[in-house]
Amino acid sequence: MIKRIIKFKEVSSTQDTAKRFIHKQEEVAVSSLRQKRGRGRHGRTWISQPGGLYLSLLLFPRTRLTSIPLLASLTIIKVLEDYDFSKLSILWPNDVLLNNRKICGIICEQYNNAIICGIGLNVNIENFPRNLSNATSLKIESGRDLDTNGIVKQIIGRFNPLYNELQKQGLKIKEVLNYIVGIGKSVEIITSKGVIKGTVHDIDDDWALLLRDHIGMIRKFYYGDVRRLSW
Ligand code: BTN
Repeated sequence: MIKRIIKFKEVSSTQDTAKRFIHKQEEVAVSSLRQKRGRGRHGRTWISQPGGLYLSLLLFPRTRLTSIPLLASLTIIKVLEDYDFSKLSILWPNDVLLNNRKICGIICEQYNNAIICGIGLNVNIENFPRNLSNATSLKIESGRDLDTNGIVKQIIGRFNPLYNELQKQGLKIKEVLNYIVGIGKSVEIITSKGVIKGTVHDIDDDWALLLRDHIGMIRKFYYGDVRRLSW
């Protein structure tokens, strides 16, 4: 359970700042107004200008490590619903979409018994570089500026009870399944063992992704990144 938010104006990456707190073995959140070297998945850069929300949750989960990315996605959905946004969906397990465009990216990095879950939410960003044509922000979608610090607090407020439930009761939070997009669509899954192409068959009761591969076999993935193929 996160009881403390440590705020910075500028850091290299909140992921690295959070890492420095691991030795204290305390679950904390680190936020910053901007990052000099924000990072995304697959070694990509996460452009981190002022106006975005940059947050890392330092966690010591006892169980269900592989569910943390999806839990973070569900948290963001709940927070954005609190702010009256709709048309929200999750591209399993890491990306939150608003109107089918990426509004939030999540990266989870593991260091022994610690997981640092990094959340980048496009809050008041007004435009994106051309190569990020599928990105959007809350400001672009709603026409209004939102208080980034207020959203950070709300994220922690929404995350804590879901996280407690996940740790105590296991995967009873079925609600997440309502938000998943991509069933029946072609994707590739990038895991540490390689890239596998197929069609999303379903999401299992334990939040794993079921993929039908090219020979029709159903394969189960507890983690990995999904890349959409032509949809
Ligand atoms: C992705 O979609 O590739 C994941 C992006 C994650 C970005 C966040 S911003 C806060 C935290 N600090 C970082 O350097 N990265 C994550």
